Amino acid sequence: MSAETRTSTPFTARTTAAEILDGVDLTGRRMIVTGGASGIGAEAVRALAGAGAEVTVATRNPAAADGLVAEFAGAGSGVVRAAALDLADLTSVNAFVAAWEGPLHALVANAGIMAIPTRQLTPQGWELQLGTNYLGHFALARGLHDSLRAAGSARVVIVSSGAHLREAFDFDDPQFERQPYDPWSAYGRSKTADVLLAVGIARRWAADGIVANALNPGYINTNLQRHMDEETLRSFGVLDEAGNRIDLEYYKTPAQGAATTVLLAASPLVDGVTGRYFSDNQEVEVVVGGPEATGGVAVHATDPATADRLWAYAERALTSR
Ligand SMILES: NC(=O)c1ccc[n+]([C@@H]2O[C@H](COP(=O)([O-])OP(=O)(O)OC[C@H]3O[C@@H](n4cnc5c(N)ncnc54)[C@H](OP(=O)(O)O)[C@@H]3O)[C@@H](O)[C@H]2O)c1
Repeated sequence: MSAETRTSTPFTARTTAAEILDGVDLTGRRMIVTGGASGIGAEAVRALAGAGAEVTVATRNPAAADGLVAEFAGAGSGVVRAAALDLADLTSVNAFVAAWEGPLHALVANAGIMAIPTRQLTPQGWELQLGTNYLGHFALARGLHDSLRAAGSARVVIVSSGAHLREAFDFDDPQFERQPYDPWSAYGRSKTADVLLAVGIARRWAADGIVANALNPGYINTNLQRHMDEETLRSFGVLDEAGNRIDLEYYKTPAQGAATTVLLAASPLVDGVTGRYFSDNQEVEVVVGGPEATGGVAVHATDPATADRLWAYAERALTSR
C-alpha cells in the first residue's frame, strides 16, 4: 500500500480510546468484544459503551465483567452485558452464536493468549494458541455472519500483534505436529492468521455491508504476559532488580492500547475502510516480514491468495472435528 492511499487519522500512539470516540454517538449500535473483561478489551468496552453502544463482553468467566456491567447500569449512556464464550472450544463458540439474537454492528475479536510454554490442545485437538486466537474467532465470525449482515453496515475488528511480522502461516504443519513446538512461533503464526482473517472477510463479505480490519495495539502491561517466565521478562527489560514489573517508555496504558481497536470498531474516520492493518491509529505500510522487521504489516499476512488458502484451511478444520 503506498503512503498516498493509506488511511491516516489525526490521532497518535498516546490517544486514548475515549478520545477517539469524543463526539461519536453509538446509541443503538450492538457490539461484541471478546476478552472484554480485562486488559485492553475492557478499555475498549468502556469507551464503546461510554459512547452509547450496547456491548456484550464475551468471556470465559462472565462474573469477571461484573464491574463493567455495574459501571454502566443506569448510567444514561450505553449498556454492558456479559456472556460466556470459550474460544478454544468449538462447542462453546457454537452455543454463543446460537444464543445471539438480532443485528450485530461490530464484532471485536480481541481475546488472546500468548506464548503458552508447552504445546497444549483444545478440546477439538487444535494447538491452543491457534485454536484460541484464530480458529475460535474464525468460527465466531462465520457463525455471526448473518447478524453482521442484518445490521446493514457492520465492522469486524481483529486484534493482532506486531509478533505476526516474524512468522508466516505454516500450511505444512499448522498445529506443530511434526516440528518442535515453539511458544513464540505459535503466537506469531496465530497472529498472522488473524490479519489474514480480516483480509479474508474483507474479500468475502463486502457486498453484505461488512468491513474487516486488523491491528497491532502496541505494548501494554496486561495479563497477557502471565505465561512468560522471569528470565524471559528480564530479557525483555520489563523487570527491575527486585523482580517488579516496569513499564518501558514506549509502553501504552490500557486506555491508549484500546484506541486503535475502537477507531476501527466505531470511528466515522475509517468508514468503508476494509482489509487493512492499523497501528497507533494509522494504517501502516506493507513490509517484507522476518526476524528483522520491526513495524508495518507483513506481506505474508496481507496476501489475498494466502488469505483464501487459510480460509479454506479453517473451513476444513471446523468441519473435520
Ligand atoms: N498487551 C500487549 O502488549 C499486546 C500486544 C500485542 C497484541 N496484544 C493482543 O491484545 C489482545 C488483548 O490482550 P490483553 O493485552 O488485553 O491481555 P489480557 O488482559 O490477558 O486479555 C486477553 C483476554 O482474552 C481472554 N481469553 C483468553 N483465552 C480465552 C478463551 N479461550 N476464550 C475466551 N476468552 C479468552 C482472557 O480472558 P481470561 O481472563 O478468561 O483469560 C482475557 O480477557 C490479545 O489478542 C493480545 O494478543 C496485546
